[in-house]
Formats: sequence, structure tokens, C-alpha cells
Amino acid sequence: MASTHGPADTPEQRPTLTHRQRTAPAPESDTAVAPATRDDPERKPPYLDLDRLEARARALLPADVFGYYAGGAETETTLAEAADAWQEWRLRPRVLRGIAAAQLGTTLLGSEVATPIGVAPWAYQGMAHPDGERATAAGAAAAGALMTVSTSANSSLEDVAASAPAAPSWFQLYRLHSPGHTDDLARRAGDAGYRALVLTVDLPLLGRRRRDLASDFVLPAGLRLANHPLVTDEQPRLQAMETPTWTFDEIGRFADVSGLPVVVKGVLRGDDATSCVEAGASAVWVSTHGGRQVDPAVSSAYALPEVVESVGDEVEVYADGGIRHGSDVLVALALGARAVFLGRPTVWGLATGGADGVASVITGLSAELAHTMVLCGLPDVATVPRDTVVRAR
Ligand SMILES: Cc1cc2nc3c(=O)[nH]c(=O)nc-3n(C[C@H](O)[C@H](O)[C@H](O)COP(=O)(O)O)c2cc1C
Repeated sequence: MASTHGPADTPEQRPTLTHRQRTAPAPESDTAVAPATRDDPERKPPYLDLDRLEARARALLPADVFGYYAGGAETETTLAEAADAWQEWRLRPRVLRGIAAAQLGTTLLGSEVATPIGVAPWAYQGMAHPDGERATAAGAAAAGALMTVSTSANSSLEDVAASAPAAPSWFQLYRLHSPGHTDDLARRAGDAGYRALVLTVDLPLLGRRRRDLASDFVLPAGLRLANHPLVTDEQPRLQAMETPTWTFDEIGRFADVSGLPVVVKGVLRGDDATSCVEAGASAVWVSTHGGRQVDPAVSSAYALPEVVESVGDEVEVYADGGIRHGSDVLVALALGARAVFLGRPTVWGLATGGADGVASVITGLSAELAHTMVLCGLPDVATVPRDTVVRAR
């Protein structure tokens, strides 16, 4: 694990996570709060208080940094609706199935993970914690989760890979300065051992993020886009990542250049998902970019069933956006997602507790998922039937 800073990261407070802790987070943990019960602490139903965690992060971070992390585009309608959209579904529990524990381990494009809850790519993690992406990678690895590293990282993709070498991780690709530099980046991801290239396709132009415009948000001095070959201390322009000229042809091309399977992130329509697969995508990731691009856009929870139906059972589909509870994860799995990814919950985890904070968020949500699955008589994340959910109304 990379060197860490701050009281939450002292070695005494960063124990190795055991399997038992994964399924039942320690009651004294800052991020996983269990209501008191009479006897065995291991039997306390887990509960992750993300609102409290976000409030703590807000108190710790400069206002413009918090606004950058928390904000969305335009009127923030997509952002506001994301979490509620998962709650539009209701679970239909099975009874008397003799299920005492839920199996959370699965594979993502062949890589084994301990939980179907991964870390979405998010930029500028050095603003949240001095160890930035390296701490997130260590936390995800401790939780047995897959991390996706952003092009806009404050540590180089090689350094992040080296901080959790045994853990599977994916690299998210944006355009970088020029087509040649972008190809170099894709090649470097393959060379560094990343298991897939995540092509983010929902940023032909940067969304108009009013909070950032109002605060004149810029990357703080001392931080840089570490993957960028040209920018050093000079303030990078976010617009440098824009990809208005990309077409479906990029999918096969980047697969060839990197030698990696390509996951296409930012798909919200069935017809687009089919075209991605026909163009060579190995998987499709349903996402509104956390409400930071098109606004108002359809929520991931509404787009997911259409995408799953279009690509069929053979193609892995993932979803993100507003996943805040174990039951949201279960809804997504029932709607056909193989995994879900977390953005802001891991931002708040990193900002408040470094690697431990990230691990705690993932293990906390995983414990909620396992608990809800047992309540619903479901033994395995890989076999959650579609009829587990029904629309609330
Ligand atoms: C602060 C922030 C930065 C982000 N940066 C990136 C990025 O660099 N690349 C990318 O593909 N998505 C990026 N995203 C989108 C996330 O990958 C993900 O789709 C989204 O955060 C999921 O929604 P959630 O935050 O509600 O969990 C970012 C999101 C946030 C909140």
C-alpha cells in the first residue's frame, strides 16, 4: 500500500480485512454503522451512512473541490434523479429457500472479484487525499473490488497499477492531447497490466457544470494530470479530453492498439449498445457520467433494462449512477447488470479515510447487498432472476 497521511490511515487503524469483516463491517467503523442488537456483534445488520460520510467530506474539503466532486451539469436534474430511480423498483422476496449466506464473488471479463461493486473512474483524486488514486487502488484491493483508473488521474497509470499489483483493475481512456498521445496511453495501459480499457464515450463536449463555472474551479497548485505527456505545472484544460469526432470505429481500433478488451462507458440506449458490440466492444457500461454530462438524461436505472435486452445474455453489462444502498445493487443485478460501480461514495470514503475509507464504503455496501440477498432468498449474485424486481407502481 502506498504511504498514507492523516490520522485515519495510521497502521493501527488499517487492519487487513478478513472475510468476516467483508460481510459484517466493524461496528466502530466510521462508514459502516450497525444498529445495536442484543448479542453477537457479527449478527448486527450492516448499515452504511453515506449521508453522514458526505457531510464529513464536505467539512474537510475546500468548497470548490467539494462542488467539483458533488456537482452535475446544467440544472442537475439527472444527478438529482439518479438515486431515486433505483428506488422506483421493489423487491419480490422468495421465502423458505434455506439460504443462510449470499455468494458475492463473481468474474468481470474473466477477472475474479470478491464483490460485484467496483470503483468507477473519477478524476483528480489527489484533491481528496494526498495518496489519491494509489490509496483508492489499495482500498479497492483490500475489499476485493475492481477499480477503474481515470485518464485524469493525479498519479500515473503505472504508479497506480504498482500500488495494488495483484488486484485486477481497468483503465479508463479519454482523448489525450492528440490521437498519437491517446494511442500511446492505450498501449501503456496494456503494458502496465490493466485487464480492460474503458472507453468513455459520453464526453464529445464537456458538460456545462454550473458549480464549477461559478467557483472558477481549477486543479489546485501542485497537482497535475500525471498521465499527460505535456502538461506539467501548467493548468490543464478539462476540455482537452473532449471527443466530438469519435465514432464506433474507435472501439475496434483501441482494442487493437491496447491489446485489451474494450468496455464502452456512457451508453444509455439499446441501439447504441448493439452498435458498440457489433463494433467490437466486450462489455457495455450504462452511465450518465454521474449526471455531469447530458442534463436532463434518462437515469441508468431506466436505461439498463433496454440495454440488457438489446445485447443479450452473452455480453456483460454494468451500471453506475446513484447506487447508494445494497438494495440498489440488487435491483441492478436483477435488471441484468453483472456489476455496478460507485463514484461519489468512494470520493467521500477517500476524502474521509484514505484507503480504509474506500474499503469501508465497498465492504459496507457489499454487506448490505449480502444481507438483502439472504432476506430475499437469493444465494448468488451471478443468478439473480429478473422477476426479483417489479416497478413500485
Ligand atoms: C468527481 C467525478 C469525476 C469523474 N471523472 C470521471 C472520469 O475521469 N472518467 C469517467 O469516465 N467518468 C468520470 N466520472 C463519472 C464516474 O465514472 C461515474 O460514472 C459516476 O460518478 C457514477 O455516479 P455516482 O457518482 O452517483 O456513483 C466522474 C464522476 C465524478 C463524481
